[in-house]
Amino acid sequence: MTSKMLQKARDFEKKYLPYTRAEQPEFHVTGGIGWINDPNGFAPYKGEYHLFFQYYPYDTKWGPMHWGHVKTRDFIRWERLPAALAPDTEYDRDGCFSGSAVELPDGRHLLMYTGVRSVRRRNGMIEDYQTQCIAIGDGVDYEKIDGNPVIDSKLLPEGGSEHDFRDPKIWREGDTFYAVIGNRCPDGSGTILLYQSKDALHWEYVSVLSACHNQYGRMWECPDFFALDGKNVLLVSPQEMTAIGLEFHPGNANVCLIGTFDKKTHHLNREMVQAIDYGLDFYAPQTLLTEDGRRVMIGWMQNWETSSCRKQELRFMGQMTLPRELSICNGRLFQNPVRELENYRGVKIDYRNVLINGETSLRGISGRCLDMTVTVRPGNENSMFKWFRLYVARDGEHFTFIRYRPETGTIKVDRTHSGFPHDIVDIREFPVSLTDGMLKMRVIMDRYSLELFVNDGEQAASFVLYTPMEASAISFSSDGSVLVDVEKYDLEIDNSAAFEE
Ligand code: FRU
Repeated sequence: MTSKMLQKARDFEKKYLPYTRAEQPEFHVTGGIGWINDPNGFAPYKGEYHLFFQYYPYDTKWGPMHWGHVKTRDFIRWERLPAALAPDTEYDRDGCFSGSAVELPDGRHLLMYTGVRSVRRRNGMIEDYQTQCIAIGDGVDYEKIDGNPVIDSKLLPEGGSEHDFRDPKIWREGDTFYAVIGNRCPDGSGTILLYQSKDALHWEYVSVLSACHNQYGRMWECPDFFALDGKNVLLVSPQEMTAIGLEFHPGNANVCLIGTFDKKTHHLNREMVQAIDYGLDFYAPQTLLTEDGRRVMIGWMQNWETSSCRKQELRFMGQMTLPRELSICNGRLFQNPVRELENYRGVKIDYRNVLINGETSLRGISGRCLDMTVTVRPGNENSMFKWFRLYVARDGEHFTFIRYRPETGTIKVDRTHSGFPHDIVDIREFPVSLTDGMLKMRVIMDRYSLELFVNDGEQAASFVLYTPMEASAISFSSDGSVLVDVEKYDLEIDNSAAFEE
């Protein structure tokens, strides 16, 4: 039965969604209206891919968390479905926090999420109690089960926190379900706990899969754990990170731990730790396995620190990244846009061996919804250029640039002039690997965003832009002589299904 609170959200969507279409990105998921944060329940179901998200339909700020819902066949065109969960029960009255989904062997769709109950203490402090809950449905409507919560403080290891215990990621292997859940140990640092179950309803605690030991931030949110190219990968989103070189930025960061899962101790033995996304706007990613065996990841293209810095006239706040195919190459996580994007490439414009020394623009190279690859190499055998800049979303007043410096082996992205009416962090710099000064950059733009993929996916970096749509010029500039290849496609996507009633 649909609760009054969920019905209210669905009625609100029906009434206001049709008005927001014109301001939406073409192929990046938003809530359509209101606020979204983390992707939830990103998983295949009955031949389609479903995506839920943390959602507050009534305002462009975070509020009592609902789950919004969309689905897709190809990760590019999304169909909007009515809100799936509302915080309407005693154990989740203060929020249906992040979680995940799985198809049950009998064909039903199971959602596992964190129910939050907040209690005000005598001293005025508010304390959350977080438990793991389940709702089962048919791909549109979901019922919370009578046995909720299915995992509570009784299933915590000694010293585990019942206040920070959230974001279950569920998956099935053979006849067993597993879940990883974020938790905190008594010293305040994060742990990722592993659970197992035969029916996804009755759970047992297995182990601490990995612990933060206050090394990479503190509380670890939104874990995901999967096998990839012969390794085991744990993705986490740490809070209270302090910067580590140019690899990890402070605040709410994102970390990928690559290693080997020890089947005896049920522990991940780390071999490599790296950032997932090097941009300004990325958090809480979640992955799924496609039918053809690809591990595809989607993240919240936003950062908590800047999430109150929105553009007043937009009626949505928060977008997802473009879904990305993951792989491991030379021990590192690689990510590239889902290959389905190529089906939406329109007009192609191609330049080879353009010599740049100073400022240049190229006829036909412009736009705000595009897929463009720029390959840069030294134009002069005897002297290395100092820097190369790619400017996008440009007009007389606005611009965003990507600057590459071979000498330091770094890329810097600067969106200071990208339309934000707030004084926020606008620059991110990160190291890249180079071969003879050569660098390949694939830039995906979709109106309000820029995603950069360096060297065939060795690094990805995501940025939200609020530059007015009319600023669509692209230009190239360098200090020293640079040879450039440019291949640009306009992207032509009809997203009307996301707004049909
Ligand atoms: C991460 C997070 C999760 C939580 C959700 C609440 O962005 O803080 O840990 O479940 O957002 O909206």
